[in-house]
Amino acid sequence: MKENIVKPANGKLGVMCVGLGAVTTTTIIGTLMARKGLAKPVGSFACEGIMRIGKGKEKCYKEVKDIVPVADLNDIVFGAWDLYEDDAYDAAVKANVLKLQDIEPVKDELRAIRPYKALFDKSYASNIDGPNVKVGESRWELTEQLREDIRNFKRENNCERVVVIWIASTEKYIPRNDEVHGSVKAFEAAMKANDVANVAPSMCYAYAAMREGCPFVMGAPNLCVDIPAMWELAEETKTPITGKDFKSGQTMMKTVLAPAFFTRQLGVTGWFSTNILGNRDGIVLDNPENFETKRRSKTSALENILDSDVYPDLYNDMYHKVRINYYPPRGDEKESWDNIDIFGWMGYPMTIKVNFLCRDSILAAPLVLDLILFSDIALRAGEYGIQKFMSFYCKAPMHKDGEKPVHDLFKQFAMLKNKIREFAGYEADQELD
Ligand SMILES: NC(=O)c1ccc[n+]([C@@H]2O[C@H](COP(=O)([O-])OP(=O)(O)OC[C@H]3O[C@@H](n4cnc5c(N)ncnc54)[C@H](O)[C@@H]3O)[C@@H](O)[C@H]2O)c1
Repeated sequence: MKENIVKPANGKLGVMCVGLGAVTTTTIIGTLMARKGLAKPVGSFACEGIMRIGKGKEKCYKEVKDIVPVADLNDIVFGAWDLYEDDAYDAAVKANVLKLQDIEPVKDELRAIRPYKALFDKSYASNIDGPNVKVGESRWELTEQLREDIRNFKRENNCERVVVIWIASTEKYIPRNDEVHGSVKAFEAAMKANDVANVAPSMCYAYAAMREGCPFVMGAPNLCVDIPAMWELAEETKTPITGKDFKSGQTMMKTVLAPAFFTRQLGVTGWFSTNILGNRDGIVLDNPENFETKRRSKTSALENILDSDVYPDLYNDMYHKVRINYYPPRGDEKESWDNIDIFGWMGYPMTIKVNFLCRDSILAAPLVLDLILFSDIALRAGEYGIQKFMSFYCKAPMHKDGEKPVHDLFKQFAMLKNKIREFAGYEADQELD
């Protein structure tokens, strides 16, 4: 009998979402509908996944939730922060992702989710503004208010544990500055000095979460927990951190196709990716400073997989361009096009076109739910610091300086399953299923 190292999922699991927009409301509604038996959590590996454990005679296939003690969806309590005052019902209707008939059955639960005031700084997302915003003298003081929100939410909802996840807008690009971001001490001094140029709002949420002992997930491409100060804080507070940027649509396809080209040793001369989308995320990304944060996250995967150090002749001259265009008529129904110019035998060129007519929040919701459930598992397993096993869900997987992230979707999936095996007391293995 193997010994599961994850403590049981006793009591309520609080989930505090930063941002109550399209992705958050779609995730909440799907979860509430699933627990009423009115929808299936399609795409959630934690809820519906099946995988192998054991080798040889021990080999068997089980549901993930029978291998590790995943929290019961009935035990989840949702809360949120947002700069708009809409409750989750109004926010979902405005987001216009789901049909009313899929929202109405959980209307009462959604009405009860009213956002806490946001720690918001317009200079980080200048295309949006709202009234539900905290007031305070400094980043430090505002972060104290966030910590109080977490404590109040936990107490009022009788939660055993709380996971905090950023599903709010992408912040403008800020570079890492080791004078401020290099240590917890320097970072705290900057918060107290109200250094708004270096202390982004998202960093304050992450700091508050960790100081309250909550795992933190960064779903946008913000710098946020990608700095030494946050890695140090995660070690000190023994909390898991994961990020960044949900790998939902176009990048998910890239991290499937690029490994195929690499494995077949096909060269790539160019990869042009463009998108149209018309939701609030699109408005925010219409600002070049915010788009820059996203661009960096979206481009990192290809350069990593199509490694020109290994095959300079195949990938040295690759031209990679990513565009996102705000186009209101499409709302959440994003469309992406990829034009991929490749070459093969004797250098002869070929072209591949990918046209993905997707639904942004429908793709993101199961990733959000899994990140929450696996972060909670990691906490109960006593894990802390960067959680690489959840790279599967991230466009730009977090890693410490000098380490190389894994982008290939199927390698990431193997990492996820191996960690689940380890949690359940089995050895990580290289078996083919
Ligand atoms: N949908 C996807 O497939 C996908 C993939 C990767 C990343 N993301 C990221 O997920 C995030 C959410 O996407 P969405 O479509 O739900 O966007 P959205 O605009 O519908 O929702 C974001 C919400 O965050 C709120 N917000 C902004 N700054 C805040 C702050 N400081 N504190 C509290 N609330 C704040 C906004 O008011 C808004 O309601 C975006 O950053 C997006 O880039 C989405």
